[in-house]
Amino acid sequence: MLRKILKWTGGIIGVLIAGVLIFYFTMHIKVNNKKDKIYNVDVRMFDIPTDSATVAAGAHIYATRGCADCHGAELEGQIFIDEGPIGTLYGTNLTSGKGGRPADYSDRDWILALRHGIRKNGKSLMVMPSYEYYKMSDQDLGALIAYCKSVTPVDHVTAEPRLGPLGTVLAGIDKLPLIPAEKIDHAYKPGAVIPKGPTVEYGKYLSMSCTGCHQPNLKGGDSPIPGGTYVRDITTAGNVGKWSEKDFIAVLRTGQTPEGRAMKNEDMPWKMTNQYSDEELTALYRYLKTL
Ligand code: HEC
Ligand code: HEC
Repeated sequence: MLRKILKWTGGIIGVLIAGVLIFYFTMHIKVNNKKDKIYNVDVRMFDIPTDSATVAAGAHIYATRGCADCHGAELEGQIFIDEGPIGTLYGTNLTSGKGGRPADYSDRDWILALRHGIRKNGKSLMVMPSYEYYKMSDQDLGALIAYCKSVTPVDHVTAEPRLGPLGTVLAGIDKLPLIPAEKIDHAYKPGAVIPKGPTVEYGKYLSMSCTGCHQPNLKGGDSPIPGGTYVRDITTAGNVGKWSEKDFIAVLRTGQTPEGRAMKNEDMPWKMTNQYSDEELTALYRYLKTL
């Protein structure tokens, strides 16, 4: 009897292991095909200015769009994911120092990365959230690139990106936004520049930096980072609906909510929103109040 049971359980475990292996290899092939896909896109070029006012505007954009969280305050590159089974991924060194962008990194390569999520060799970048940036105006994108090109070179060689088995499975089941290029409308052309000001329209434009975590409808959902804190609804259906403009600005500057919660910067990047101007936060508030 016991032998029979053991034989049966052995069989079942065997079938399970085979199932897991088949699942894993299917994911592996699926994800590798996506990683190796070559994108042929039309890169619409425009001039990148070099004047100091534009560079300063670009520094503000760099600080307020989350770039520093992954690429470092000096653009020197920093570890972004370092979890054995998920993988190892650095935000690249964006300076022209050792380990940074090569001497032949052109304006086209900058636009290709930021508007299309694609690297020089035509393949998608990994995890770089270009889908949050590709709708920036030429003016803002040009300023951002102008700033990035102007910074002091830092020598910092980082490890090549590596995706672990868990990272592969999570990407395979769409729980890790690995391939930005597949989330972008490559034919998108920005419309007329939206004038800066405390307006609903400008708030809507700025809110694209919130959509990667809060979802395109800003109603929140599961964290884009596997296992991360649940992302809250920031339309009027959530707490924002009850807050005054002053409350909202205080939350985005300090991470402390009127309800008495202290949000961690790693969950909700308030050290980034802290650097928005009052005008920008007012614009965001006014836009969210329409949702
Ligand atoms: C969530 C983390 C994250 C954020 C936020 C982020 N990046 Fe990245 N970025 C990455 C990673 C990771 C890579 C490297 C991807 C790879 O090599 O596959 C990358 C790559 C790049 C590249 C391409 C470099 C190359 O080798 O071609 C550029 C340019 C870049 N980022 C600029 C920016 C700028 C500017 C911002 C802000 C507007 C930004 N990134 C925001 C994670 C991020
Ligand atoms: C990297 C992901 C990420 C980005 C980018 C992000 N958020 Fe959040 N946000 C979160 C998470 C996660 C929470 C919930 C944190 C918690 O519950 O402690 C949150 C909470 C909030 C809250 C508090 C809501 C409440 O009910 O208490 C507000 C307001 C908010 N975010 C606004 C914004 C705005 C505006 C932007 C864009 C400028 C933005 N967030 C960008 C992840 C993000």
